[in-house]
Amino acid sequence: MRTEQKSTYRVAVYPGSFDPVTMGHMDIITRASKQFDLLIVAVLNNLSKNPLFSLEERKDLLRKVTSHLPNIEVDGFRDLLANYVREKEAQVIVRGIRSVTDFEYELTMASTNHKLNPDAETIFMMTNPKYSYLSSSLVKEIAHFNGDTTDLVSPEVDAALRKKFNEKAGL
Ligand code: PNS
Repeated sequence: MRTEQKSTYRVAVYPGSFDPVTMGHMDIITRASKQFDLLIVAVLNNLSKNPLFSLEERKDLLRKVTSHLPNIEVDGFRDLLANYVREKEAQVIVRGIRSVTDFEYELTMASTNHKLNPDAETIFMMTNPKYSYLSSSLVKEIAHFNGDTTDLVSPEVDAALRKKFNEKAGL
């Protein structure tokens, strides 16, 4: 017999650099959005990194490519992730894992976040194998050399990459 469960509003944070958002990220966002009432896609504004796209550009692209999903909020943060999650009253941190090489880094990050905020649970989702090789860095490299990124990113991101590299080349 099923026991009655107390209903709670489930909020998860999917953090990352998203420079830019790829089809691999989209796969995780789409699947994670089905598991939670609200999925906050949180873009890190890391001053020590040198991203291709500004924080606003990355958030704009994320908003465009997730506009068909009803329960997504796109935000930026410059705090510790553990504090940000607490502030948002989220229960879960979502991270995608593409391969075993991701695992060591992700385990360290999850353990650190658990130490800083034991109330937040990190949940890993396996990236669809069709995107297991895909990364934002790879996409930027292909676009830099004017290669075809159409299957790797959404059309909006593809257009933004072309524009960005044309601007850089002074075209
Ligand atoms: O897409 P990325 O670059 O793999 O995302 C990494 C990110 C942004 C999730 C991670 O660097 C992060 O959470 N930075 C915030 C600072 C922080 O909380 N550091 C301690 C956790 S290891």
